[in-house]
Amino acid sequence: MKNIIVTIDGPAASGKEKISKYLSKKWRLKHLDSGIIYRRIALIFLLDKVDISKLDQIKKKIKEITKISFRKSKRIRNQQISKLASRIAIHNCVRDFVNKLQYDFVNKNKNKHGFVIDGRDIGSVVFKKADLKLYIDVNPEIRAKRRYKQLIDSGEKSIYPKILKEIKLRDKQDKLRKNSPLVIPKGAYIIDNNATFNDTVKQINNLFKNL
Ligand code: DC
Repeated sequence: MKNIIVTIDGPAASGKEKISKYLSKKWRLKHLDSGIIYRRIALIFLLDKVDISKLDQIKKKIKEITKISFRKSKRIRNQQISKLASRIAIHNCVRDFVNKLQYDFVNKNKNKHGFVIDGRDIGSVVFKKADLKLYIDVNPEIRAKRRYKQLIDSGEKSIYPKILKEIKLRDKQDKLRKNSPLVIPKGAYIIDNNATFNDTVKQINNLFKNL
């Protein structure tokens, strides 16, 4: 689908990535995962030992970054980077930087294809005028169970109560922050992802028929 923008917002571990990938393939849209950009910045801060309690250090480092990869990697998928990404994402200077990268990327490629973009503020702040806005809703216990299973299946150690606690903490950080908190974007359709993946994509594919 050419020239359309679909936004997918929702809390941590709500299935945004799986849904985005599915839609990207089914409707031939380019997938842009904004969380990866926050995670990449978190990794840079970690490696360069930036003291994230000091705003001047954050601002200085952000100005120094010249290139960011949008590629997924196992290195940025761990709990340490998840927490750090959520903490640095509260700052306007970080958010402005990430948003500019997203606008530039979309502007450069918008004549070639449409986009499905997922994150925490995509339909509410970054692409307010998107053609279709979705908000993925799943209760924290189901999210924690799914994340736990994912980690165990991939051979990693995992403790369910710890995962649930971390998910609730990230929800709190993402929803209560002053800058671009996680909200249901105006005009977004709420997609219930508590049941099966088939149920979820059925709800979404019905909405695509009206585009
Ligand atoms: O979706 P994710 O778990 O990969 O995102 C990592 C963190 O980045 C998340 O806890 C909050 C932040 N983030 C954000 O603030 N805004 C976005 N659009 C995407 C991610």
